[in-house]
Amino acid sequence: MKDDEALKKLRGPLFILFEGIDGSGKTTQADMLAGLLDSMSVPVARLAEPTRGVWGAEIRKMLSGNAAPDPWEQVRLFILDRREDVAMNVIPALGRGDVIVMDRYYYSNAAYQGAGGIDPGEIMEINRKEGFPEPDRIYFIDIDPVLAMNRIASRNNGGTTEIFEKGDFLSAVRKNYLSILGKNSVVIDGSGAPEKVFASVVSDIRNAFIQ
Ligand code: TYD
Repeated sequence: MKDDEALKKLRGPLFILFEGIDGSGKTTQADMLAGLLDSMSVPVARLAEPTRGVWGAEIRKMLSGNAAPDPWEQVRLFILDRREDVAMNVIPALGRGDVIVMDRYYYSNAAYQGAGGIDPGEIMEINRKEGFPEPDRIYFIDIDPVLAMNRIASRNNGGTTEIFEKGDFLSAVRKNYLSILGKNSVVIDGSGAPEKVFASVVSDIRNAFIQ
């Protein structure tokens, strides 16, 4: 059986997270996975942080502003958003037995606000103390920050970028990610075509979760 077909046997509750620097292509991968599972009638909850809720709106205002606020203030806002997301979306989805396909979570908190000067390990600890559920698998879609910046530039067509979309900053974010990824994490080379990256994701899910 092909890897893609095998995924119709996937059963929740299962929590799959995609992480990566801006421009890594993780959102495309999350969309592809949720779309594939949905087409096979596997119950899926496609989630993302920052959310579209009140705290998410506050965060987006911050991201499109001129300057980043104090990193601890950023941690505070993302955690308020995450508390709401976990209570309203993550826990109910796991309760229903869905497969959660999530785009960013507290690993983003540690990697990005860590690049603002806070110890990433400390941010991980604060999030874990909140009791947020741990993902079963984390796919870190890894690309060179220079390639990421080229992708962001062509996507924006010369328009404005968000406060974190700077090459040096994204290099620091990438280093932080690599320092916090643990046993449930898989590093996937994100430099190839989306279909090629997706094949690596699907193959790992099959090996990890389908007998
Ligand atoms: P992103 O996934 O790019 O959202 P969208 O595609 O909707 O714009 O996330 C926006 C930014 O938020 C991104 O630069 C990473 C940042 N971020 C943090 O700094 N900390 C966090 O805890 C999260 C969840 C995101």
